[in-house]
Amino acid sequence: MMKFEDFWYVVAESRNLKPGKVLARQILGQWLAIFRDQHGMAIALEDRCVHRHSRLSCGLIKQGNLHCPYHGWIYDHRGQVIGVPAEDQQFKPRENLRTKCYPTMEQEGFIYVCLGEPIQPPFALPQYGKKGWQRIRLIHRFANNVTNCVENFIDIPHTASVHPGIFRTAQRQAIKMIVDRHQGQVKAEYYNENNNLGWWGKFLNSQGNEISHTDRFIMPNVTSVEYKFSSQRHLFITSQSVPITEQSTLVYTDVAFNYGMWNFFAIPLVWWTAKRIIAQDLKILAIQQEVIAKYGTNFNHTPADTIHIFVESIRTAIAKGEDPRQLPDKTVEVTFYV
Ligand code: FES
Ligand SMILES: [Fe+2]
Repeated sequence: MMKFEDFWYVVAESRNLKPGKVLARQILGQWLAIFRDQHGMAIALEDRCVHRHSRLSCGLIKQGNLHCPYHGWIYDHRGQVIGVPAEDQQFKPRENLRTKCYPTMEQEGFIYVCLGEPIQPPFALPQYGKKGWQRIRLIHRFANNVTNCVENFIDIPHTASVHPGIFRTAQRQAIKMIVDRHQGQVKAEYYNENNNLGWWGKFLNSQGNEISHTDRFIMPNVTSVEYKFSSQRHLFITSQSVPITEQSTLVYTDVAFNYGMWNFFAIPLVWWTAKRIIAQDLKILAIQQEVIAKYGTNFNHTPADTIHIFVESIRTAIAKGEDPRQLPDKTVEVTFYV
């Protein structure tokens, strides 16, 4: 039985989990208290004291142990109660006196938590730490679920209407797309894109050559958009959509770019453009969620939505407890217009 809990999710940026500090987080509706133990290892405990249910995330860290804010029970890195102030020296640890402890790992500046049995490692960010690459990271809370966020991040047809000018302008240009579902992943490759890239078009693609553009979805919650222009312009936008509740998703967006000699100069421009684009998507996704809350989902599709249909097939399989890697491989070619 596969479930959404069996994957790694970002709970914090490494730099924000300082020793001696506790963070309150929520993943898939589960409340977590996150802190570092004496060795600097990230610890994730259920955010509920087993004594009288105060929130551990409101407590204090002393020598890498977490002290409940109410009666001061002390929890170690395993979630085991190792001290009760009211018992002083009389206290004898009991095996079952513990709160749930979840596996964590730290990778590429993120702390990940898994609420179940991890079936695959966290997605490795493209070009992370590679020479010649700049990166920026943005974090936003979307008022919608993971499926709809993911679909938005790899959806060309919305760009002309939601991001007019910045990203694309409607030109009724035919774009060919080859979409492929394989092993819990979806890959879409686009052809005949060349000049419709808004403000950045001149800089990114001054020669007007054909652009190499690939969108990817990696189960259960990662999208990666790759643009390759000439030899000196290469860009990845990776979004990790972390399920907080059914209507709330925390999205970590990592933009990695290699613009050659323009790398440093481009940082504020990339940041500002990403901010503008995300602000527009935040709005449209909040509107969509309001309608879904009232009317439910009874979506209709055209062939341009093939990528979304594949994403939905994968996420629906997990929701039903099935392994989407068992779904048959499928490749579809579609032409649509932007
Ligand atoms: S509720 Fe946590 S110590 Fe009492
Ligand atoms: Fe968008």
